[in-house]
Amino acid sequence: MHVPFVDLSAQYHSIKKDIDQAIGQVISETAFIGGKYVKSFETQFAELYGAKHVISCANGTDSLYILMKMLGIGPGDEVITAANSWISSSETISQTGARPVFVDVDPVYYSLDEQQLESKITSRTKAVIPVHLQGQMCNMREIKSICDKRGIPMIEDCAQSHFSEFQGTRAGLFGIAASFSFYPGKNLGAYGDAGCIMTNDDALAEKCLMYARHGALKKHHHQIEGINSRLDGLQAAILSAKLPYILDWTEKRITNAHLYDQYLKDISAITLPAVRTHTKHTFHLYVIQAPNREALIKHLTAQGIETAVHYPAALPNLKAYAYLGHSPNDFPVATRLQSQILSLPMYAEMTEEMIRYVAASITGFYTHR
Ligand SMILES: Cc1ncc(COP(=O)(O)O)c(C=O)c1O
Repeated sequence: MHVPFVDLSAQYHSIKKDIDQAIGQVISETAFIGGKYVKSFETQFAELYGAKHVISCANGTDSLYILMKMLGIGPGDEVITAANSWISSSETISQTGARPVFVDVDPVYYSLDEQQLESKITSRTKAVIPVHLQGQMCNMREIKSICDKRGIPMIEDCAQSHFSEFQGTRAGLFGIAASFSFYPGKNLGAYGDAGCIMTNDDALAEKCLMYARHGALKKHHHQIEGINSRLDGLQAAILSAKLPYILDWTEKRITNAHLYDQYLKDISAITLPAVRTHTKHTFHLYVIQAPNREALIKHLTAQGIETAVHYPAALPNLKAYAYLGHSPNDFPVATRLQSQILSLPMYAEMTEEMIRYVAASITGFYTHR
């Protein structure tokens, strides 16, 4: 059996009529940039999510950058984020001229360790970016309380956590604003690059919109120099076509995660994902800790099972951050995890048979050693 890591084609075929119609409409109306499809996706996503403003932009990386720029972050400032994430969470800090400050991750939930946050805050800290990695939310009660007490804005990186919840509130609704990615493989994915900013703050929403549209809210009225970061009409229409299905797909991911839990529970060598109590983990990724990982990857590949590692090097250990002068011992948890974590295939369209097959292959690997 072949089990791909993600199967975007299976999802497309399940809603082919909706997608083809959406694409056809945009093309026949040549509504390629701006216009009603972009506006209506922004409105629909905001409504479904329960947020006041959604400002679409070209990708999730831009949404982080735009937010920090519009919060006035720049040279001389520090912004705190998690030691394990995709590089967008930290490279956008540097893009503003500020310095990224990393916090190690929690050994159980793999996200920014709230207990180490306060020790990283200085008078230069201008924002904290908790990353809700893998679909699991950070401890928002603690992180929000630390940020609120010190008046530090919190920008949630929700690229991997569409519709995740912490104590009944959705990811993205805790801080001053949030960043979302609609990269094709994300839980809500476009057919190319796409992203958005979400906020309940009217003034910040207007600033971000202006900055992302060349500094102009009205054509040719450039109040500042901005950037060009737009969601195009085709991506907007595709995302709108997917919205009626997203809650169902999210539930299916959770069901599939439970199936993995059930089929993998007896393999004592591996550690299964732990879910925080009173949260909804939306399983963008299903990540196990696997001893002898490289050999396991080879074994699974030979059996037709694709896997991935998110991420093979913690951010502070990347060459890109050598200039910060960290040693791997500064982030012992993230450094240990980088050689043990393994993301198994995970998507709504997976069948129980596929999950059973993956689990049996992993069982086979550990039983024969
Ligand atoms: C945690 C995290 N932050 C930010 C991003 C950036 O999103 P994009 O690829 O849309 O720029 C991604 C996705 O790749 C991500 O996984």
